Amino acid sequence: MCGIMGYVGRGSARDVILNGLARQEYRGYDSAGAALRVGGEIKNIKIVGRVSELHRLVYADEGTAEAVSGIGHTRWATHGGVTVTNAHPHESADGSVVLVHNGIIENAREIRSRLEADGIKFRTETDTESPCQLLARIYAGNGGDARAAMSELCGSLSGIFSLVILFRDRPDEIWCARRGAPLVAAHTDEGGYCASDPTALLEYTHDMFFLEDGEFAEITPDGIKFFGFDGEERVKKSIFLHWDSAMAEKGHYEHFMRKEIDEQPNIVRLTIDAHTVLTSVDIEGDLNMPDGKPLASWIREIRRVQFVACGTSHYATLVARGLMESLDNALDVTADVASEYRYRSVPGGPDTLAVFVSQSGETADTLAAARGARGRGTRCIAVTNVRGSTLDREAGCALLTTAGPEVGVAATKTFTSQICLLNLLALQLLKSRGTLSVGDEARLIGGMRALPTKQQALLEREGEIRALAEKYSGSKGFFFIGRRESVPLTMEGALKLKEIAYLPSEAYAAGEMKHGPIAMLDEHLTVVALVPNDDLREKMLSSVAESRARGARIVIMATEGDAEVAAMCDDVLFVPETERELFALCGVIPLQLFAYHTARTLGRPIDMPRNLAKSVTVE
Ligand code: M6R
Repeated sequence: MCGIMGYVGRGSARDVILNGLARQEYRGYDSAGAALRVGGEIKNIKIVGRVSELHRLVYADEGTAEAVSGIGHTRWATHGGVTVTNAHPHESADGSVVLVHNGIIENAREIRSRLEADGIKFRTETDTESPCQLLARIYAGNGGDARAAMSELCGSLSGIFSLVILFRDRPDEIWCARRGAPLVAAHTDEGGYCASDPTALLEYTHDMFFLEDGEFAEITPDGIKFFGFDGEERVKKSIFLHWDSAMAEKGHYEHFMRKEIDEQPNIVRLTIDAHTVLTSVDIEGDLNMPDGKPLASWIREIRRVQFVACGTSHYATLVARGLMESLDNALDVTADVASEYRYRSVPGGPDTLAVFVSQSGETADTLAAARGARGRGTRCIAVTNVRGSTLDREAGCALLTTAGPEVGVAATKTFTSQICLLNLLALQLLKSRGTLSVGDEARLIGGMRALPTKQQALLEREGEIRALAEKYSGSKGFFFIGRRESVPLTMEGALKLKEIAYLPSEAYAAGEMKHGPIAMLDEHLTVVALVPNDDLREKMLSSVAESRARGARIVIMATEGDAEVAAMCDDVLFVPETERELFALCGVIPLQLFAYHTARTLGRPIDMPRNLAKSVTVE
């Protein structure tokens, strides 16, 4: 959480820092600040609120136009309330160090007590002030050797951090360091940059240096030097990012989320094209394993598959788990949330394949879970959307989703791209095990190829979904119910509504309603029932009838052509027929639009919902 930014060079530091913060605002948005070096002065401007307000204040100060270097921060508060004093950048008491931080310093209190006992006055309630004051103390004590001071500081801190630092007496430098929180640096003829997220740098370059845990860097207008925490210089290779900066723009859309919903048909197409070999008569569905090792050489040893992820990525893994189970129930397939998997005594070793899924590739729990599994000798694959992310770099074998940058805090297009990629991976695994029939393979790959057209048709029915959202936005709460393939989708539908509309919404396997939740139903609650036309349709309709009898308002999502359901509900939303296992890839579009228009009707800040951040880099 939190977005950090640094720049030193020949361009406008003010523009670079403020643009970079605007691009990273999704990472945290309760307060923001920028420290800009103008001549001999460092102007430190901080606000409670959004980057747009910081922008206004910074640009109102004409002197900042001359800034040649600077650091900036957009905050998601952990330690200390949301106040201007607690907003970053922080300054040491002697003014020699100005610093921004993403992460949590676990020994902050201990450092603070030690420094306060020596008479240093702390001004904030944050954990960040401790490394700031400590660095100033070390730097003053070692005769102004910045490299040695950075090395000593990093070695003294426990917890998670990415830091960007200005030393007052070093006008041509910024310094940054990383342990556990993302940090990327880059260099062009215009100067040197660093940021939490590479999308903040894409308008300047596509060549990025991803700092590893245990590294710090000195950035000047002429280049970047990297060091280990031991102070030894390191040579690093850059990674070329294919994303283009326009992909992270809103274009004509009111919100990123809405734009990202629209991108899904194309992303599904791209994902399938990128990972399948297509012939004119049939689709092989061969997945290119990026480590180059033939899957067939070890897949037969696998007895179990574990999917591990958080939030929406977890729901995508539930879909893939369902697909695998339906095709090969001799394989033990589980899907866990990473925050539980990492602390449970899960089985592992070379007969286990664990698939870690994270859009950002930076989710702390998922990274920790993957490290734990590797430690047990489990075979691991990562699935992420961000090339160069920690998950991508640490995994021996990583598959990239082709969704492009997702800016809206609510995941949309990455959910569908994850499901497509995981489905293809699942098919490839089963094929290599010899348990995928030719018929099922052709049926499912063909079904996936047909999806973009169906998704597009759903997007074109936005008006109908908006009307439903407006009608039901006054509901006291929602239950999303479904069975088997629909259950992950009930979770995703409910999560979308919670996170962007702030409405109580629960997801239930329909058969569970009678075991308690049905007690809550009355005319103020809405039940959204997912009723695809499959072998469980009748059972779903019984659950619908039970809910209706308790007075709840009912919206049914049914398969096109199933006219009968209209009489059993207040409203019906039809989705095109798909293969049973692919229902989520169509059904999710109306649920995303429903949440979006409900939130819009209620006037919520859709792309930056309260209390959330896009990337959860702390536990
Ligand atoms: O980057 P990740 O996929 O690891 O993120 C996992 C969750 O934090 C994320 O899916 C979250 O639940 C989203 N806000 C959902 O819209």
